[in-house]
Amino acid sequence: MSFKDIIKSLENEGKEKHLPVIKAPDNVKGGEWFEVTVVVGKDVTHPNTLEHHIEGITIYYKEDGDKLAYKMADFSPIPAHTDSRVTIRARVENSGKLHAISSCNIHGLWESEKGIEID
Ligand SMILES: [Fe+2]
Repeated sequence: MSFKDIIKSLENEGKEKHLPVIKAPDNVKGGEWFEVTVVVGKDVTHPNTLEHHIEGITIYYKEDGDKLAYKMADFSPIPAHTDSRVTIRARVENSGKLHAISSCNIHGLWESEKGIEID
């Protein structure tokens, strides 16, 4: 089993609470700032207690044709005090895909992605 086998996505049970839903423009201008919001528990609120919470949201960007992704942001909400959502300002030079990974302290890692096109 490789690391990718333990990351869950849209097909898995519990996705309503755990998938990181990415909100970002479909098209942006190269090098100009835009907002990216990632929400975990968009449709069904995820518990936010010390015992069961989202412990991290990480956002990566992978340019089309590139083999590697780079990290854009790493967010660690504090359970019971901070909601499991984050908004960042980002800028990219080339089309590619945003990837978000959320981590639940009980239910593991979850991923989603969204394409960004440069005008
Ligand atoms: Fe969970």
